[in-house]
Amino acid sequence: MPWQSSPYKIDAVAGQTLAFCSCGQTKNPPYCDGSHKGSGKAPKVITIEKDGPIWACGCGKTMNSPFCDGSHKG
Ligand code: FES
Repeated sequence: MPWQSSPYKIDAVAGQTLAFCSCGQTKNPPYCDGSHKGSGKAPKVITIEKDGPIWACGCGKTMNSPFCDGSHKG
């Protein structure tokens, strides 16, 4: 990380399960692509509760992973 200096907007759908990369090695940010294997790290998996946009951290500084908390501005 970082992949970019702003969050990724995702049009999420209720019931969808998303796995976000926490290791920084994915080739498909912000999602896990399995590149973490052997690193001892694991993706952050969430289930979407309602339809609508979410913002996933792209800078790696968030304190509320996998969501953007505005830390990219600082
Ligand atoms: S590729 Fe980074 S956590 Fe899976």
